[in-house]
Amino acid sequence: MTSENAPAHDDYALETVEISKLFGGVKAVDELSVAFPRKGMTSVVGPNGSGKSTLVNLLSGVLPLDGGTVIIDGVGLKVVRAHETPDHGITRTFQEVRLFDQISVWDNIMVVLTNRSVFPAMVERTKSRHREKAREVLENVGMWEKRDSLAQDLSYGQRKLLEIGRALALEVQTYLFDEPFAGLFPQMLERVKDIMKRMRDEDRTIIFISHNMDIVREMSDYIIVLEGGRLLTEGEVEDALNREEVIEAYLGA
Ligand SMILES: Nc1ncnc2c1ncn2[C@@H]1O[C@H](COP(=O)(O)OP(=O)(O)O)[C@@H](O)[C@H]1O
Ligand SMILES: [Mg+2]
Repeated sequence: MTSENAPAHDDYALETVEISKLFGGVKAVDELSVAFPRKGMTSVVGPNGSGKSTLVNLLSGVLPLDGGTVIIDGVGLKVVRAHETPDHGITRTFQEVRLFDQISVWDNIMVVLTNRSVFPAMVERTKSRHREKAREVLENVGMWEKRDSLAQDLSYGQRKLLEIGRALALEVQTYLFDEPFAGLFPQMLERVKDIMKRMRDEDRTIIFISHNMDIVREMSDYIIVLEGGRLLTEGEVEDALNREEVIEAYLGA
């Protein structure tokens, strides 16, 4: 098959067709159809309350869909189950970091790895593989030195790094990051950027939410702009950000 007539889903890791989520009378996500390119980084932007986190919650099965279909690798799902998303090649981080506070940094990674153990019979081999992987992940996110600290004793930025490490412990195609840069000091911010750039260089699909337009411009290849749970515009970053409707939405004109 030539690239010309290859199926569209080869180009997209993830798509939605008219997905909706209602909270009481609020249409948080409103019959939204978007497609996330497989290659590169895609940012999701939009004013507060425009449905960005809800979109990620729907894609990752954290919230049930009220309608529509999520298409993962060309397979349409009306129900996305959170625990099955790694099998579909997807994992995520949360805007409000979710760690096990009472256990060590190391154990926070091990929990992710052992939860995904397929062959408990091969305990010893699996264990050493997990240890190797945990070390690799903690080195990758620059948290190896902190491995014995309790999660509750970490700084805000270190918690963000550990949260990203927990996502990285799962080797999947697509990573959804909800506000990975929010509240970080410049040094930490550069670290998170570096981690994400390395992931992109490994041909992983990265989707992130951000309010920081400098980072959005620097880091993303493609952008999806939401407003009121609907698509305002999407496209190549510079192109999309120069469109009148986006400038108006952002300047409140
Ligand atoms: N769990 C919830 N219960 C009730 N309303 C919610 C809930 N989550 C989000 N909303 C509402 O849905 C809309 C979209 O929220 P959200 O997806 O968090 O926006 P964003 O991430 O773009 O700031 C907002 O009006 C918000 O108040
Ligand atoms: Mg949000």
